[in-house]
Amino acid sequence: METDLSLDQRIAQKQAETLAALARVTKPEELETIRVAVLGRKGSLSQLSGEFARLTPEERKTAGRALNAAKEALEAAIETRQHAFEQEQLAKQLDAEWIDLTLPAPGPRRGSLHPVTQVQAEIEALFISLGFTVLDGPEVETEYHNFDALNIPSEHPARDAQDTFWLTDCNVLRTHTSPVQVRGMERLRPPLRIIAPGRVFRNEEVDASHEHTFYQVEGMMIDRDISVAHLIYFMKKMLSAVFRRDVNVRLRPGFFPFVEPGFELDIQCLICGGKGCAVCKQSGWVEQMGCGLVHPNVLRMSGIDPNEWSGFAFGLGLTRLAMMRYGIDDIRLLQSGDLRFLNQF
Ligand code: FA5
Repeated sequence: METDLSLDQRIAQKQAETLAALARVTKPEELETIRVAVLGRKGSLSQLSGEFARLTPEERKTAGRALNAAKEALEAAIETRQHAFEQEQLAKQLDAEWIDLTLPAPGPRRGSLHPVTQVQAEIEALFISLGFTVLDGPEVETEYHNFDALNIPSEHPARDAQDTFWLTDCNVLRTHTSPVQVRGMERLRPPLRIIAPGRVFRNEEVDASHEHTFYQVEGMMIDRDISVAHLIYFMKKMLSAVFRRDVNVRLRPGFFPFVEPGFELDIQCLICGGKGCAVCKQSGWVEQMGCGLVHPNVLRMSGIDPNEWSGFAFGLGLTRLAMMRYGIDDIRLLQSGDLRFLNQF
């Protein structure tokens, strides 16, 4: 039947069929298939030009124009459909990736203070309210401030007891915060009340309750007629501020060359309730601080007359106190940098 039609008619028919096929296309890939099948070099429309040979020059001209017009119209139709698919795809993508720029931005993630810092802040606030001044001292200390001025002579075993990290030029990583007492007495005249929180270092075996790097708070009060009763009063005040409940404490004699008499204060282990665990080494008690009345030699070495002034001093294990306060059963967690642990505070 096709052969009954003129070439022009067959061109027009092919164009109409192709336009109808383009209207039915549902996927962009189908457009290319149609383009190749109709407009490609061996495509159905191109093949019609093979029949030009049997036409008169006049007919050939007309048929050529019709063929070109059909090709252009189909190219344009394919392009329009192609463009429509692209727009549809873009709209889908925009819908999926839509961001509402008018929404308020999520706020910055809030961190929290390290548990040791939190307890330190509470202790500072308490002592400031009791008339104490907070002092700071260097972590790299002179041997003089760390030992000599605290009545610890060079051959004294107390130097070994503190497992010192020795540096060059008679410097040490301070083994306790007590050198800040000395620096306080050098700068301030009695009566004086100071505390000095800070980081200290000891070259010792690490376990559940011992770190090589930990925190202490030094405290000192010098006035007239200071006695052990004053010391006990301030220690009780501090413990009830930190624990906000009664905790069992015991005071036992302890030797520190810079106090006389000297004591060690333990609190009943709050990890196991006194039953015995790795933190308290099964004893039920955890050593929290050394304390006592300031040795007359220490006062004298800092130019304070022991006949006129007396005082108490304490060195509190701040890291251990934070463990008791928050029920942390291994001291190593505190410096682990593990955010799963730290996020709990
Ligand atoms: C001292 O450091 C003395 N300077 C304390 C002092 C100050 C006594 C003023 C008298 C007057 P000691 O070595 O016992 O003392 O340490 C004090 C506290 O630090 C201990 O009670 C304990 O709570 C804590 N501590 C000691 N070693 C470690 C450690 N390796 N890891 C964690 N905490 C520790």
